[in-house]
Amino acid sequence: MIFSRVVGTGSFLPGTPVTNEDLVARGIDTSHKWIVERTGICARYLAEPSQTSSELALAASLAALNAAGLQANDIDLVIVATSTPDFVFPSTATLLQAKLGMDNGAAAFDVQAVCSGFVYALAVADKFIHSGSHRRALVVGAEVFSRILDWKDRSTCVLFGDGAGAVILEACGTPGILATALHADGRYNEILSVPGNVCGGAVIGSPFVQMEGQAVFKFAVKVLDDVAQEVLLAAGIDAAALDWLIPHQANMRIIQATARRLGVPMANVVTTVAEHGNTSAASVPLALDAAVRDGRIRPGQTLLLEGVGGGFTWGAALLRF
Ligand code: UT7
Repeated sequence: MIFSRVVGTGSFLPGTPVTNEDLVARGIDTSHKWIVERTGICARYLAEPSQTSSELALAASLAALNAAGLQANDIDLVIVATSTPDFVFPSTATLLQAKLGMDNGAAAFDVQAVCSGFVYALAVADKFIHSGSHRRALVVGAEVFSRILDWKDRSTCVLFGDGAGAVILEACGTPGILATALHADGRYNEILSVPGNVCGGAVIGSPFVQMEGQAVFKFAVKVLDDVAQEVLLAAGIDAAALDWLIPHQANMRIIQATARRLGVPMANVVTTVAEHGNTSAASVPLALDAAVRDGRIRPGQTLLLEGVGGGFTWGAALLRF
C-alpha cells in the first residue's frame, strides 16, 4: 500500500504587518476594539500591487522544497489552491511551475474551493499519491485576497489578508495522511461569494467579496465539528489523542467554538489569525508552517487540519507528521 506524508513545509507573507490601527489611519470606519473583539484579528499582510499569488506561492514553495531537501524537478505534481489566481488562465499552478524552473512535465493545476482550498488540494494530492500515479506533490495555498476586497465595506475588508503556504507530500510505506474528508453544499453559495465575471472586456456583477457574516459563522462552526468527527472516526483516533488542531484561520471565536466542541484545549490549537487575518486558502498551510518552524509541531505528532469557505465547502485532513 502506498501512503503519503508531509516531508517539508514553507510559507511567505508579503511586506510588513498592517495593524487594525493602520486601517483606521487609512480612513476605514472601524476600530481595533471592534475588530479584535469580533474576530481576534490584530494585523494582516497586504501584497504590493505588483505581487501576484504565483509570486507568493513561489517563495513559500522554495521554503518547503528547502525544508524537504528537494529540487523543484523532484516534484511530479503541483496543485495550487487559490481564489485569487494571477489570470483567468493559465492556472496559477503552471505559472508557479515555470517560476520554479520546472521542465520535467509534472502535472499542474489549480483547485478552487475558496478557504477550504488547501485542504481540498491536500486531499487530492494524497489520492494521486495513494493511487501510485505520482510520487511527490507540491501543494500550495496562495492568495492576494486584498485584490477582491471593497475597501469601503468595513464588514469584510478588515477580515482578510494575503500570503502563501506550501507543503511537499511524498509517497511512503506508512501513513502519513491517515484520513481526509471533503464536502460542499452549493445551495449556500450566496452567503460568501465574489459574484462577478469578466465578459466582453468588462466585469459583470461584483468583483468584491460579499458575505453574510452571521450565516457563515454558524455554518462554519457546525461543519468544522462534523468533518473533524468524520476523519477521527475514519482513522479510529480519539480527539484527545490530537497533538495539534490547525483550523482555517478566519475568526478566533469560530476557532474557539470548534476546539470546545471537539474537547481540544486551546493550548493544542495553532492560531495565526491574530497576526495574519484570514488568508483564505493560505491560512492552514501558513499556520502549519509557523508551528513547524517554531518547534511546536514535531515528527510523529498527530495533526488535524480543517478548512471551511465559500461554495459552501469544507474538509479535513488527519495526519501523522
Ligand atoms: O473564511 C470564512 C470567512 N468568513 C468568516 O469566517 C466570517 C464569519 N463571520 C464573522 O466572523 C462575523 O459575523 C463578523 C466578524 C464578520 C461580524 O461580526 P458580527 O458580530 O456578526 O457583526 P454584525 O455583522 O452583526 O455587525 C454588528 C455591527 C453592525 O452595526 P449595527 O448595525 O449593529 O449598528 C455593523 O455595521 O457591527 C458593525 N460593523 C463594524 N463596526 C466597526 C461591521 N463591520 C464593522 C467594522 N468596524 N469593521
